[in-house]
Amino acid sequence: MRLVLLGPPGAGKGTHAQVLSKELGVAHVSTGDMLREALKKQTPLGVKAKAFMEKGALVPDEIVIALVKERLSNGDAKKGFILDGFPRTPEQATRLDENLEVLRMPLDLVLYFKTSLSVIIRRLSGRRVCSRCGKNYHIKNFKPKRDGICDACGAALVQRPDDREETIENRLKVYDKETSPLIDYYKRKNLLAEVSGDLEVKELNLQMKKLFRSKDL
Ligand code: AP5
Repeated sequence: MRLVLLGPPGAGKGTHAQVLSKELGVAHVSTGDMLREALKKQTPLGVKAKAFMEKGALVPDEIVIALVKERLSNGDAKKGFILDGFPRTPEQATRLDENLEVLRMPLDLVLYFKTSLSVIIRRLSGRRVCSRCGKNYHIKNFKPKRDGICDACGAALVQRPDDREETIENRLKVYDKETSPLIDYYKRKNLLAEVSGDLEVKELNLQMKKLFRSKDL
């Protein structure tokens, strides 16, 4: 299956992509994770992306388009993929279409996670991530077994720099201006299905799988 998860910051795209990629046996392609990894390793790409990410601005199109193009040509993406956090601008969406046409791997579905503002704020301000392996937690919804310590690797949990209040506000503005036009873009292509990002993880996972079955995916 070839999916795009579209929605505002904190809608749960990363959380669901992680679960679905395991269930469906497809690649999870998160541009946010790829950029954070580059930043951690201080690669030239990471150094370029740092200032944009810390402000909650988008990293320039050319950088992320090239990153995804390379990732999708890897063998594992041939079995299917879930794009999480990409595309995020009309330019990224049209370039993705072109790349997928060349690869003969058209999209099956775009899931739009419609999510209320109060839920977004609660999730982002409560999110904590592992400083080593990047695993996601939430101070109320998904607590680690030991306070502040990652269950998977034992490293310290930290707040993402872009989850601070002033940056969240900017990310939401950027989403409204740059990314939300993609809802209509994919509606026109008859690829969009709307789900509620407000739902509890298990409930939404079940709804999505029901939706896939109804579309013979
Ligand atoms: P990115 O990492 O993609 O961030 P984002 O899109 O802002 O998305 P988030 O990770 O904040 O939210 P999410 O929807 O994945 O929610 P999550 O599942 O984590 O991008 C970061 C930055 O990188 C961008 O600002 C930009 O600078 C750059 N970038 C990335 N892609 C780019 C691109 N294509 N073009 C240009 N720049 C790009 O959930 C959030 C929290 O809520 C977690 O704590 C989770 O545990 C909890 N939670 C999730 N779902 C539920 C639920 N159903 N119930 C209860 N709690 C939940």
